Amino acid sequence: ATKKLWGGRFTGATDPLMEAFNESIHFDKLLYKADIQGSIAYVNATHKVGILSDDEALQLKQGLAQVLEEWSNNSFQIKSGDEDIHTANERRLGELLGPVAGKLHTGRSRNDQVATDFRLWLREEIRLLQKYLLELVYVLVERAKADIDIIIPGYTHLQRAQPIRWSHLLLSYAFLFQADQDRLVQLFARVNSCPLGSGALAGNPFNVNREEIASELGFTSIIQNSITGVSDRDFVAEFLFWASLVMTHVSRFAEDLIVYSTIEFGLITLADAYSTGSSIMPQKKNPDSLELLRGKCGRVFGNMAGFMMTYKGIPSSYNKDLQEDKEPVFDSASNLSSSLQIFAQVIATLTIHPKKAAGLLSDDMLATDLADYLVRKRVPFRETHHVSGRAVQLAESRNCQLRDLSLEDLKALNPAFEADVADVWNFETCVENRQSTGGTSRSAVLAQIDVLNSWIASQ
Ligand code: ARG
Repeated sequence: ATKKLWGGRFTGATDPLMEAFNESIHFDKLLYKADIQGSIAYVNATHKVGILSDDEALQLKQGLAQVLEEWSNNSFQIKSGDEDIHTANERRLGELLGPVAGKLHTGRSRNDQVATDFRLWLREEIRLLQKYLLELVYVLVERAKADIDIIIPGYTHLQRAQPIRWSHLLLSYAFLFQADQDRLVQLFARVNSCPLGSGALAGNPFNVNREEIASELGFTSIIQNSITGVSDRDFVAEFLFWASLVMTHVSRFAEDLIVYSTIEFGLITLADAYSTGSSIMPQKKNPDSLELLRGKCGRVFGNMAGFMMTYKGIPSSYNKDLQEDKEPVFDSASNLSSSLQIFAQVIATLTIHPKKAAGLLSDDMLATDLADYLVRKRVPFRETHHVSGRAVQLAESRNCQLRDLSLEDLKALNPAFEADVADVWNFETCVENRQSTGGTSRSAVLAQIDVLNSWIASQ
């Protein structure tokens, strides 16, 4: 027999290369606290069914508390042969308590143990991400409130389309992040279900009370089937997709802001705190924060795609492939948490240039309003669209603005034009005409702010 936890039936040693290949302690040590919480709950459960005496249960819980203390104050020593966090903690418990430590794992498997630990860990991480996401929505809403007067060109296809309030654009992302928060709450409920007591795959032979274990650990339900318990990683897939979607939203807005920060657009300037310079070109101020946010989206998506590829081929119940579930989640979670914090700060601190924005507005962006003017004179829209298009073409051929066309020019295109057409040439009016819910008028944007503010208050 070898000295390993599972060494009884082994006579030969593990190839050192295999040892290194197999170990997960260098990343799953992040689960140290969850692992000990789960073990304490399991001690209580086996104590209750008489596997452990009062004294043994007490010793084990005191020993586990000490192991936790060592992790917390950084004195825990990982030793060679510590395959993963579960074996490391049990090895240390044995050093502290002697043979009684060997009773901890009765009826338990690392299969239900790791599934429990991972869910406990992710629960905490989700709470943190919820907080950062809420802060991001808050920053967007506050900025939208403060900048309500600023009108910028709105784009479709990155071509100037119609004037909009800058606040309206900010809020368009706030609503996406709000939905991301709702998704996170929904997936949290599925993370928060307890597999402990599933054993290796077939269930627990000592009749431990799984409902009690779950409630002691703060889970709201238990996983009803032990095979599902040890092998269900749908919560991992969901979390990785969620992270990819959030980063997609971050990346898309980052892309807007990168473009807006060019001299050619000149709509915004990033704070120095979130920009960097060039090692050769002294004039440069680059939007590295935003570019990294856009770039990290690819990596977070890759974590999801990589895990899905692993997950799809696994036979029923636990297989070691599942050890590959942790690094993508750790990586996506930590990148999400830094990305959300950085993005909120980039948005809170950037400068918007209202004069430059106003200078970018041009009459062609009012062509729809010119068509709408005729609609109000009872001309069918399909006709007014055509008339307005002709006016755009005429102005283009004369190399002038739409408002420079005379009333006679316009009347020649359609007799319904009158002197009040002059009122069309006003960007503020154009914006203010969009009063319907969801539109870009002041009142419609303020209503959106109200919706988000009450949502924030409810969080
Ligand atoms: N380190 C393993 C993992 O992350 C723990 C479970 C190992 N179970 C086993 N039967 N080998 O999945």
